[in-house]
Amino acid sequence: MSLDTFYLQFQGLVLPRETQSVDSLNFVHEFKFEDDDVLAVTFPKSGTVWMQEILPLILNDGDLTPIQTIPNWDRTPWLEETRLSLVVDQLKPPRGLVTHFHYDLMPASFHQSKAKVIYVMRNPKDVIVSFYYFHQMAGFLEDPGTFDEFLDKFLDGKLAFGKWTDHVKSWKNAKLGDRIMFISFEEMKEDLPAAVRRMSTFLGKNLSEEVIHKIAEHCSFDAMKNNPMSNFSLVPKVYMDSDKSQFLRKGVAGDWRKHFTSEQLSRFRSIISKDLEGESFTLPWSLD
Ligand code: A3P
Repeated sequence: MSLDTFYLQFQGLVLPRETQSVDSLNFVHEFKFEDDDVLAVTFPKSGTVWMQEILPLILNDGDLTPIQTIPNWDRTPWLEETRLSLVVDQLKPPRGLVTHFHYDLMPASFHQSKAKVIYVMRNPKDVIVSFYYFHQMAGFLEDPGTFDEFLDKFLDGKLAFGKWTDHVKSWKNAKLGDRIMFISFEEMKEDLPAAVRRMSTFLGKNLSEEVIHKIAEHCSFDAMKNNPMSNFSLVPKVYMDSDKSQFLRKGVAGDWRKHFTSEQLSRFRSIISKDLEGESFTLPWSLD
């Protein structure tokens, strides 16, 4: 099957046809951001569905109703996906949204608004591994081939949403001042209550310790794996085949160690460090 079967081209990126369309991309262009919107930005496989669980709980003071009754894709929709136009009128303010878009693809209304951004980044080596397994189970993505071939596609920016380094650079260099906070997957994994506390403070929510711990408990990997509204068990097998790999697969930091050879690691290190040459920001992990 040709790549056109799976992807459409948009502003130099390939995007999955199953979830994006010309109409959905036009819809984003016209989308009206509100000042109290909160946008979680991620490169794929960096903790998007985790944020789809955490954000509504923070914004609703720990009320579990949204995560127990609404599938994640309608509860905290992707800005760029076709579902948004279908559910946008049902979203109650303050609205939580997620996106994989680079900063320069944000619509005009985003820049005119005071909408806040939480950028979640994950060690790119774990992103590659997670993305590799996701390509095996997602019927709407091209076959990943071998891990070695997949690594090259990732480093060349040939996968959906392009180069990881371009994504990070675009948001790290965006001049958003106190509208943006950065957090890592690893920080969330290390101490979820502390991460929830930091996010709620950023969002101006003064949550009690009891609510913070309740949120962390309901957003643990095991809780989400058992939540049919969050574990993609509602999705037909033809789109996501959990016999091949689970969406909520391992949920750990450092799984890359079981997948990279030393040659692949040095190829990764040399390309990523070249891509980031001259950047003034630092990353929370070593490239080694
Ligand atoms: P793994 O494939 O390494 O397990 P995204 O939502 O951006 O597509 O990212 C998916 C990755 O986030 C998967 O990684 C998934 O298991 C992990 N993840 C989702 N919810 C999580 C949670 N509550 N705790 C830890 N990892 C989580």
